[in-house]
Amino acid sequence: MKTAQAWRLRMKDMQILPAPRHRAHLKKPTWIIVLVSLVCVFLICAYIYPPHNSAACYVFSSNGCNGFSQWMPPPPSREFTDDEIASRVVIRDILNMPPVQSKNPKIAFMYLTPGSLPFEKLWDKFFHGHEGRFSVYVHASKDKPVHFSRFFVNREIRSDKVVWGKISMVDAERRLLANALKDPDNQHFVLLSDSCVPLHHFDYVYNYLMYTNVSFIDCFEDPGPHGTGRYSEHMLPEVEKADFRKGAQWFTMKRQHAVVVMADNLYYKKFREYCKPGMDGRNCYSDEHYLPTFFHMLDPSGIANWSVTHVDWSEGKWHPKSYRAQDITYQLMRNITLIEDSVHVTSDERKEIQVRTCLWNGMRRPCYLFGRKFMPETLDNLMELFSNYTSI
Ligand SMILES: *[C@@H]1O[C@H](CO)[C@@H](O)[C@H](O)[C@H]1NC(C)=O
Ligand SMILES: *[C@@H]1O[C@H](CO)[C@@H](O)[C@H](O)[C@H]1NC(C)=O
Ligand SMILES: *[C@@H]1O[C@H](CO)[C@@H](O)[C@H](O)[C@H]1NC(C)=O
Ligand SMILES: *[C@@H]1O[C@H](CO)[C@@H](O)[C@H](O)[C@H]1NC(C)=O
Repeated sequence: MKTAQAWRLRMKDMQILPAPRHRAHLKKPTWIIVLVSLVCVFLICAYIYPPHNSAACYVFSSNGCNGFSQWMPPPPSREFTDDEIASRVVIRDILNMPPVQSKNPKIAFMYLTPGSLPFEKLWDKFFHGHEGRFSVYVHASKDKPVHFSRFFVNREIRSDKVVWGKISMVDAERRLLANALKDPDNQHFVLLSDSCVPLHHFDYVYNYLMYTNVSFIDCFEDPGPHGTGRYSEHMLPEVEKADFRKGAQWFTMKRQHAVVVMADNLYYKKFREYCKPGMDGRNCYSDEHYLPTFFHMLDPSGIANWSVTHVDWSEGKWHPKSYRAQDITYQLMRNITLIEDSVHVTSDERKEIQVRTCLWNGMRRPCYLFGRKFMPETLDNLMELFSNYTSI
């Protein structure tokens, strides 16, 4: 506003300038000051309100807008390192390549579990009748699982120890992706835990994931101690504080993104070295920051920014709500399946609640395909209600 007013004042000055009587009264230095400030104001205005139409462009340069922008100072940006340039060209080319076409596109369900999967029977019900449109991978980090479903027999991949909050968690995710990528028919990749259950029937899940171009990777900016507060400046120059993001670990990923994760060594190493429990006297958990930050930096519009795996944080405790047998009612399951907003709460004093409508290909849709933190004792109730609550 101030600039605009100043501009108008100068315009008035300009109108009176040509009058010879006035000119005679103005001493030479005043003249120069007025002229110089005029030019300055003009340049400031031009900088703040860059011309948008071609007529305006013409005023500034005979080459049009390009010529104009060429002599403007470039926005401050740092120079990329050799590693970053190499990394970014590889990632850009993977993302620009047309997706691998498959005659028999499948979804890879990847289970990250310490041992047996308490909901195998429920998943069996979910998969039944859809043979050939999915594949199952199990990363059992502690005990060899006992199976209740033929879909899970011999589906374990070679695993390694997983320590909660450490990089070994991300390593297990990468191991699952690598094994699932071996099958060229796998087009979308879903990471699930032993406490996860399906919220919709198979076709719904299949169509939801297959007929969209985004990965459902949770990602938001949390300025609080459990978000950006975990950032370490050792991650510079590649990972700047302003790019540091947070999100739940339970992702689904399109094939191109899974390949991009395999191709990444640079950013992965930064998180392995500098985002870990006890880093700089703070706890950083790579599984909550690596993928959200990585995709926020390299393909922000390629991710949905919410996770399709529901979890209930509404109790405001350190851990989300665990569902027990008595909690499992038709009404509860229906409530969860019908949620259409994703909610993020920052961990700073303001506890800002960020609510976003879940848009699937631009259309309002239920946010969640899976639910988490169901205790093994809920199995029987879920089995009974499954065809009921998934029939929506
Ligand atoms: C996804 O991308 C492909 C090719 O880039 C395009 O043909 C298709 O329409 C897109 N699908 C959606 C649902 O946006
Ligand atoms: C996800 O958030 C980023 C900003 O961080 C935004 O650019 C992108 O468009 C969002 N994705 C979708 C699908 O809206
Ligand atoms: C389901 O949602 C309704 C409306 O939000 C709420 O009143 C009810 O308590 C919820 N029921 C369960 C079991 O969560
Ligand atoms: C699901 O169960 C509820 C409560 O038991 C019942 O009211 C409803 O009609 C059932 N819906 C279907 C589709 O079977």
